[in-house]
Amino acid sequence: MSHAPPRPLSAGRAGALSGRVRVPGDKSISHRALMLGAVATGRTSITGLLEGEDILATARAIEALGCPVRKEGAVWEVLGRGVGGLAEPDGDLDFGNAGTGVRLMMGLITGHDIAVHLVGDASLSRRPMGRVLKPLVAMGLEVEDRGRETLPLRLRGSADLVPIEYRLPVASAQIKSAVLLAGLHAAGTTTVIEPEATRDHTERMLRHFGAEVTVAERDGLRAVTVNGDAELEGRPVTVPGDPSSAAFLTTAALIVPGSEIVIENVLVNPTRTGFYVTLREMGADIAFESEREAGGEPVADLLVRHSKLAGVRVPPERAPSMIDEYPVLACLAAYAAGETRMEGLAELKVKESDRLAATATGLVANGVAARVDGDALVVVGGKGVRGGGTVATYLDHRIAMAFLTLGLGADQPVTVDDAATIATSFPEFSALMEALGATFIVPETAT
Ligand code: S3P
Repeated sequence: MSHAPPRPLSAGRAGALSGRVRVPGDKSISHRALMLGAVATGRTSITGLLEGEDILATARAIEALGCPVRKEGAVWEVLGRGVGGLAEPDGDLDFGNAGTGVRLMMGLITGHDIAVHLVGDASLSRRPMGRVLKPLVAMGLEVEDRGRETLPLRLRGSADLVPIEYRLPVASAQIKSAVLLAGLHAAGTTTVIEPEATRDHTERMLRHFGAEVTVAERDGLRAVTVNGDAELEGRPVTVPGDPSSAAFLTTAALIVPGSEIVIENVLVNPTRTGFYVTLREMGADIAFESEREAGGEPVADLLVRHSKLAGVRVPPERAPSMIDEYPVLACLAAYAAGETRMEGLAELKVKESDRLAATATGLVANGVAARVDGDALVVVGGKGVRGGGTVATYLDHRIAMAFLTLGLGADQPVTVDDAATIATSFPEFSALMEALGATFIVPETAT
């Protein structure tokens, strides 16, 4: 997928932010809704689907696999082909920047006797795929270029899969989900054992579509089992607002004095709220209002007020529940008095960029004391943020958004070298921030 040309953008000090906004749909749930819709029979209608580049890539992929996707008003519809019914695509399946899209798709394809060629952008082509291929190969997937562990990949699935019991080597919802999706086609039960609980949207949504999924505790670990030869039926799905997108608006309100904002309809599934737990420990004034359930997931309206913050230690076991929020938390920590030490972050090195290095380097470039200490990220904050630096974003949407957020309280504007990548997960980022009162400027060197 050809990327838009780099678009530098700067954010300077903002006045008090205020307003009520909604963030777009959750990225994880949006991928899953499209993919389960594809292997269900009949029509799946999806309300609140994220319309970011990552999700549009998944929508194009399932169309290429024979499942028509269309948008009627605000509702997306997928016409599914049933478990085992995907057709061989004519061309490449291009997942752009989307790790979740391509990894979950590998699981879905494993149970189909079709060949696919998976490709992605420069960032996705560097990311490790062996971790997903390993269990899928054990179930019956063939990798044409055996031993190859990065995109592009040519794969062939099989209609005759072996069910497995698989203990995840790292806490990863993507690997768990890929194995469970393959398990839908296996003769027997497929079990995934997690070292630490990761986001459980696949389990919830599989049940919603009629699959048999059980969750049990085994030796203190979470074991998720799916019954093979499943039959899924098309269902309506409601996608709540993405807490990982809400994290940027939340951080902006906490940083900028006088701010008070409400972000409506945000997913507050406990496997996703580690960031908000951490913020409260730092002294943030955040309330989850009108907690309710929508589409099988807990949601709430987030009321956030500017707060005086103090640094904390963020324990490694919290990482799976806030894995995508560390760049923005590190930027927030620049405004919190004292040291914030975030531990157990090895997985950050294999995200859309090496987020551990990119975050520390970006902070230092803007006058913040930050360092990588093994698998930990340490930020010493509370002394004001000088700003004035340009941050390399390495095709990573969350690095771009985190550093634009950092700029909202800085003495001089903070510039990111490319804001075009933001469209992968949160195309409305600038518009929503500006609706709350922030201003972004295109730096002069870029005009
Ligand atoms: C995701 C899981 C996480 C996360 C990603 C979305 C998912 O990745 O970083 O943005 O939807 O399952 P890992 O499973 O690799 O930790």
